[in-house]
Amino acid sequence: MTTPIDRPALVRRLRAAGCVYAEDEADLLLDGADSPAALADLVARRIAGEPLEHLLGWAEFCGLRVAVDPGVFVPRGRTALLVAAAAAVTGPAPAVVDLCCGSGATTLALARRLAPRWLAATDIDPAAVACARRNLAGLDVPVFTGDLFAPLPPHWRGRLDLVVANAPYVPTEAVALLPPEARLHEAPVALDGGADGLAVLRRVAAGAGEWLAPGGHLVVEAAESQVEALCAALTAAGLVPGVRHDEDLEATAVTARRPA
Ligand SMILES: C[S@@+](CC[C@H](N)C(=O)[O-])C[C@H]1O[C@@H](n2cnc3c(N)ncnc32)[C@H](O)[C@@H]1O
Repeated sequence: MTTPIDRPALVRRLRAAGCVYAEDEADLLLDGADSPAALADLVARRIAGEPLEHLLGWAEFCGLRVAVDPGVFVPRGRTALLVAAAAAVTGPAPAVVDLCCGSGATTLALARRLAPRWLAATDIDPAAVACARRNLAGLDVPVFTGDLFAPLPPHWRGRLDLVVANAPYVPTEAVALLPPEARLHEAPVALDGGADGLAVLRRVAAGAGEWLAPGGHLVVEAAESQVEALCAALTAAGLVPGVRHDEDLEATAVTARRPA
C-alpha cells in the first residue's frame, strides 16, 4: 500500500490487542492491504481475534507459503517436526499418504522433502480439501474427501511406505481453553480429539496396520502427555513405536513401524 500510514500507531494498537509480534504483524497487514479502507478492515478483524493467517490468506510452513482459507486449520510451526521425522524414517521414492491434511501444508512439505513415487492426502472437511487442492495444484497429488483411509484407492492397502497424520488431538474438555483464534476460527473437527484426545489417532493406528507395507512407517503428532497411551495403542495395532521430541519447537512426533 503506497498511502502513508502511521505504522508506529498501528503497532501500538496491535500490541494493545495482545498481538505478541505486533511489529511483524503490522508489516504483514500493511503488505496485505491494497487501500487504507482494506487495511482498516484487516486491522479491525485482527484486533477482534481473527488469525493473522486467515486475514492474509496464507501461512508460512517449512519455508513454504501455503494458502489458508477461513475456517481451515492454520499450520503450526511445531509440525515441522512431523515432516522431519517422516523424512528421517522413509526410504527413497516412497508411496505416501497424508491423512487429515487440512490446508495441505504438511502434504506440500512432504512433496518437497521426499520425492515420493505416489503421494495422496485425505481430509473429512470439504473446506480443507478445497484449500489443499489449491495448494497442491499441478503436483499430481490427489486429495480425497472422507474419513481417514476410507476414500483411498483400495489397491494401496498394504502397500504404503509412509502414512503421516497430524490428526486432531486436543481432549474435548480442553478445546474450550484454547486461544480464541483457534477455538472460534478453526473448525472444531480440526481440533477435537475426543475424551482423551486420542480418539482419531487410535483409529489412525488401527488403520495403519492394514494400509502400511511391511517395513512401512506411520508418523503422527501428539502432546507429550499422550505419548504413553498412544504408544500402547500403536503396539496394540502391531506397530513398533518410537518417539521424537523437539524442545525448541515444543513438539512431539511419534513414529511407528510395521514389522517386515
Ligand atoms: C490439526 S489439523 C491438521 C492439518 C494439517 N495436517 C496441518 O498440520 O496443518 C487436523 C485436520 O484433520 C481433519 N480431520 C479430522 N478428523 C478427520 C477424519 N476422521 N478423517 C480425515 N480428516 C479428519 C480436520 O478436518 C483437519 O483439517
